[in-house]
Amino acid sequence: MTRSERKIDHIHHALGHERNFYNHFDDVNIVHQSLARLDFNQLSIDTKVGELNLSSPLFVNAMTGGGGEKTEQINRDLALAAKETGIGMAVGSQMSAIKNPEERRTYEVVREVNPEGIVFANVGSEADAKQANEAIDMLKANALQIHINTLQEMIMPEGDRDFTDRLKKIETIVKEIEIPVIIKEVGFGMSKETVEQLYTIGVRYVDVAGLGGTNFSRVENRRRDKQLESFNNWGIPTPLSIIEATHTAHDRGDFHIIGSGGIRNGLDGVKAMVLGSEAFGMAGNLLRVLLEDGKEALVAEICHIHQEIKIAMMLLNANTVRDFKGKPYVLYGRTKEWKEQRISS
Ligand code: FNR
Repeated sequence: MTRSERKIDHIHHALGHERNFYNHFDDVNIVHQSLARLDFNQLSIDTKVGELNLSSPLFVNAMTGGGGEKTEQINRDLALAAKETGIGMAVGSQMSAIKNPEERRTYEVVREVNPEGIVFANVGSEADAKQANEAIDMLKANALQIHINTLQEMIMPEGDRDFTDRLKKIETIVKEIEIPVIIKEVGFGMSKETVEQLYTIGVRYVDVAGLGGTNFSRVENRRRDKQLESFNNWGIPTPLSIIEATHTAHDRGDFHIIGSGGIRNGLDGVKAMVLGSEAFGMAGNLLRVLLEDGKEALVAEICHIHQEIKIAMMLLNANTVRDFKGKPYVLYGRTKEWKEQRISS
């Protein structure tokens, strides 16, 4: 299998794994408010997350990377859909293009088709400041994502094993780079302890990327002879990771939480914002729509999500999407149990 074929194989594994397990967003019920006071046709979903001006709280989260015509086509279509609907887009890890310049095209196409859009660069936590700058320049990016994916590396037979310098590297990049630096997980979520430590080294943006959707433990296990299945449900479910991060940061106006991981629709996105995130990312579910039904279907899906957000604004009398934060909600089941044990009120 060529490198490019391996990437496509990876995408199919990422979309194809079992997903009908417990989704913690179903444990979050927002309290309905009957007395509407807003005009639906006047609603705007634009927002500001720190220094980032967004025309929607939704963005396409990091996915395809590596070279090859197929990945370039996927990124082109994602970027075209993002442009048409005015949403932001993160690219997949640029580490391979930094090492193999012939792969740069896969990423450059994103900026080419969407010159004015919000685009996030993406590197691994092994990147140094020079590589991070290279990734940003490749896209004229508006923000940089640094992904942390320890469990994925552990399950990959050829994965990284030595993480002793990772925190220091993140700290250096955060200090040197002028645009927002978002530290993101890849589907295992961040604890309040992690968020606290990141804040201490100067991080001001996190994407909790919690458990509930694309699961890299399951994806990478499919490539192993003897599977490490015991880690298939490892991680912090997204709503709980947002609650943990929000609890840590409750009085810090300069700290910005993005929610992602297992978001299935606009209402899950609204729940993420009610719990404390300022924006939300979707990866696997948007890619599936693109690959199964095409770019126009993806545009329609994003418009549908925007409509769901606006309906929730009406139902909660939220003038802006920032007003979702702190609206009353009720937790059930496992989500309630976790919160009770981890978060002192
Ligand atoms: C990813 N994800 C990812 N994240 C990252 O930071 N760098 C990357 O290169 C990739 N690559 C990648 C490929 C594919 C095919 C998928 C589906 C996902 C992880 C992604 O950004 C996100 O954190 C998780 O997928 C969880 O979100 P969803 O998919 O449940 O919405």
